Amino acid sequence: MNETDFALARSQLEAALGEETDPLANAANFVAVLWHALSDINWLGLYLKRGEQLVLGPFQGLAAVSRIDIGTGVCGTAAETRATQRVADVLAFPGHIACDIRSRSELVVPLIIGDRLIGVLDIDSPSPDRFSAADQTGIEALCARFVDTLIERGDSI
Ligand code: SME
Repeated sequence: MNETDFALARSQLEAALGEETDPLANAANFVAVLWHALSDINWLGLYLKRGEQLVLGPFQGLAAVSRIDIGTGVCGTAAETRATQRVADVLAFPGHIACDIRSRSELVVPLIIGDRLIGVLDIDSPSPDRFSAADQTGIEALCARFVDTLIERGDSI
């Protein structure tokens, strides 16, 4: 996606979020806006931190694993390291959890409020090396906008 595409996605996200403050409503709209803004993807959704696990939240795509241990798979690694995981070949990622056998590359962005991890955004593509460094930067910026809307509730949204 180029800068114009990301600017359009940002304006669509602003329209979808509006003045809403409910975290679940905003999470659902965040996922829907990104799902339609990004091309060549087969799964996009949130895993939310619940204790020492990530639990499936709003998503688009095939039914997926409900719980992932922090430190396991691409999502759990992003949660543990608090660093975005941009994986060009999921089959080469140790411990990758296959939710959709079509997935070939993946981008997972940790969602952090202050110093607290609240979950991750997970995006899968059927194409190898789908996500560029520019895609990562643009998607991280959209995640930051979503995180801004969140109201802290315990250890998760
Ligand atoms: N591939 C992820 C699991 C979630 S599904 O892709 C939706 C992982 O390895 O953590």
